[in-house]
Order: sequence, then C-alpha cells, then structure tokens
Amino acid sequence: MKNKKITKIIIGSNNPGKIKEIRDLLPNNIKIYTPKQLNIPSPKEVGRTFRENSLLKAKFFSRKAGMICIADDSGLRIKMLGGSPGIYSARWGGKKNNFNLAIKKVYNKLNLVDLKWREKKVKAKFVCSLTIYWTNKKYITSVGTIEGQISKVKLGKYGFGYDPIFIPNKSKLTFGEMKPIKKYKIDHRAIAFKKIKKFF
Ligand code: IMP
Repeated sequence: MKNKKITKIIIGSNNPGKIKEIRDLLPNNIKIYTPKQLNIPSPKEVGRTFRENSLLKAKFFSRKAGMICIADDSGLRIKMLGGSPGIYSARWGGKKNNFNLAIKKVYNKLNLVDLKWREKKVKAKFVCSLTIYWTNKKYITSVGTIEGQISKVKLGKYGFGYDPIFIPNKSKLTFGEMKPIKKYKIDHRAIAFKKIKKFF
C-alpha cells in the first residue's frame, strides 16, 4: 500500500493556516478532504514530542475518516526560553488560538528572562513533524527544521501563528512579511515534506 501513489487524502488539521500550506505542498491532482468537511473534531494532543503528536493526529483522523491522512505537528522553539513554546505553541494562543496573544506571551517571557533581549540575537527554530498514516496502519514520519531569530517587533501580514516574529537565517524579512509562495518553499513544513514527497 505504501508504494502505491496516494490519490485521496485527509489533511489532519483544523488549523486553516496549516491546511492552506499543506494543500499547497500536495500535487494538484490529489483529492483533498479536511476534518471540518467531515465533521471530525481534533483529538487531544497528549504526546510529548512533535513526532508523537503528528502520529497521534494522523492515526486519529485516518481512522475517523477511513482514508489516508497527512498530519503535522509543529511549533516554535526559542533558545532563550529553554525551547518554549515548543509543542505548546498552539496552546499559548489560548482556547481561541489567538496568535496575537501567543506573540505577546513570547515577548513577556523574553522580558522576564532578559530586559535587554532586543539588543541580542534571540535564536529560534521552527520544527515540523509530518506523518502519513495509511488505512492498513502503516505510517511514515519525517521532521523538518528551520533556524532563525525572533524579531524585535511584530512584522508582516502574511501567514499565521508566529510568522510575524520569526526571521529565518539569511533573510531580513519575517515569515509574516514574505509572500506565502516564498515561505512555503523554504520552511520547516517544506523541508519535512521533501522527505516524504515520493508517496504522492
Ligand atoms: P499544532 O501543531 O496544531 O499543535 O500547532 C502548531 C502551532 O505552532 C501553530 O498553531 C502555530 O502557533 C505554530 N506554528 C507552526 N508552524 C508555524 C508556521 O509555519 N508559522 C507560524 N506559526 C507556526
């Protein structure tokens, strides 16, 4: 089954930003479904790592929908904050997944650690784990990371989540300032996707 090209898939996420990006990575000829279309709520993310959570979601949505699923678990790791928010990246936005709130929390925490953090390079990286889960219970997981730093101010209107405060290495722009077509080619999700592209 694993060596048969995938023609139909459910994107295991209820996050519109992620769905948009994964949809863009997948070839055009694939029939794509979302949990929302099939009325499937998200499972609790009880895993301890990005990998565990992406597998948990892929398995859950594949079983519920009865089709192959691709799911992502991702987040931002900030060195000065000991790797936080990490797997809690979405949860820092509260129940309503409010990204402004999450970004405020990042700035507040950085201030608590070092009031002069803006004078330094605050290293951070985005991590993405992607899992494809087949209906015969076989699965494959891959991880992609992109290194960068935290922007001193929030910049840009594109993307979602922490995009306005993340500047990838070798760039002057935050992900929020980059046109999606550019971000989608270089980010953690694209890097993770390259490793499992052959299944499509
Ligand atoms: P989860 O994988 O559903 O637990 O959520 C991942 C969270 O990490 C998102 O809600 C965002 O806050 C953040 N995140 C993951 N990938 C990106 C990205 O590409 N840009 C901005 N934020 C991201």
